[in-house]
Amino acid sequence: MTVPARPVKLAPSLLSCDFTRLGEELQAIADADWAHVDVMDGRFVPNLSFGLPILAAARRASPLFMDVHLMIEEPERYLRDFAQAGADGITVHVEATRHVHRVVGAIRELGKRAGVTLNPGTPLEAVRPVLADVDLVLVMSVNPGFGGQKFIPASVERVRTLRGWLDELGSAAELQVDGGVTPANARSLAGAGATNLVAGSSVFGPDGAAAGLSRLRAALA
Ligand code: DX5
Ligand code: ZN
Repeated sequence: MTVPARPVKLAPSLLSCDFTRLGEELQAIADADWAHVDVMDGRFVPNLSFGLPILAAARRASPLFMDVHLMIEEPERYLRDFAQAGADGITVHVEATRHVHRVVGAIRELGKRAGVTLNPGTPLEAVRPVLADVDLVLVMSVNPGFGGQKFIPASVERVRTLRGWLDELGSAAELQVDGGVTPANARSLAGAGATNLVAGSSVFGPDGAAAGLSRLRAALA
């Protein structure tokens, strides 16, 4: 397997952390590259998670890059709020808005990094027209809505295809993967061209987030 030329960033998903100890959990992942923040509205996905106050608290507790993944309908309605609450990057689903090109432009106008993502059942072509306009493309490797689901193996090929398209454009956008990422599949995702891996349950395990993060890093070494 090809060893990736670019260092892979790790973005633990706070969805799996112990919220009674949010500050300590952020301390435990201080060595991570980013913190991934999953916002769910109970409509775009069949689950509710948390919103602005938790992001604001995480922002106060940690200097980590706050990578906000909006699993909400019409994300355009809340971009300014998430930017003000401390997001560094905001990723929206192509299925959740009629105007994805306008939305990624609006995120950049707020001075934040713009990301676009798509569900496992959505053809990759849906994001192709905006690839030149984003700072991050996220391949969902589970159906969004819940932590702890099983990785969908076909996601590896989707990463490879997007890697090719981004390289053709000369884009330096992050190619992120989210859902079921573990030490067992991290290396093959990096080999397919991913530059950024989100991991919830495989980081925030029973032996603590610092240990989970090291296991993931070791798998990529
Ligand atoms: C799923 C979320 C993920 C989730 C990943 O809807 O977008 O970020 O927290 O959790 P794991 O790594 O447990 O699949
Ligand atoms: Zn996510």
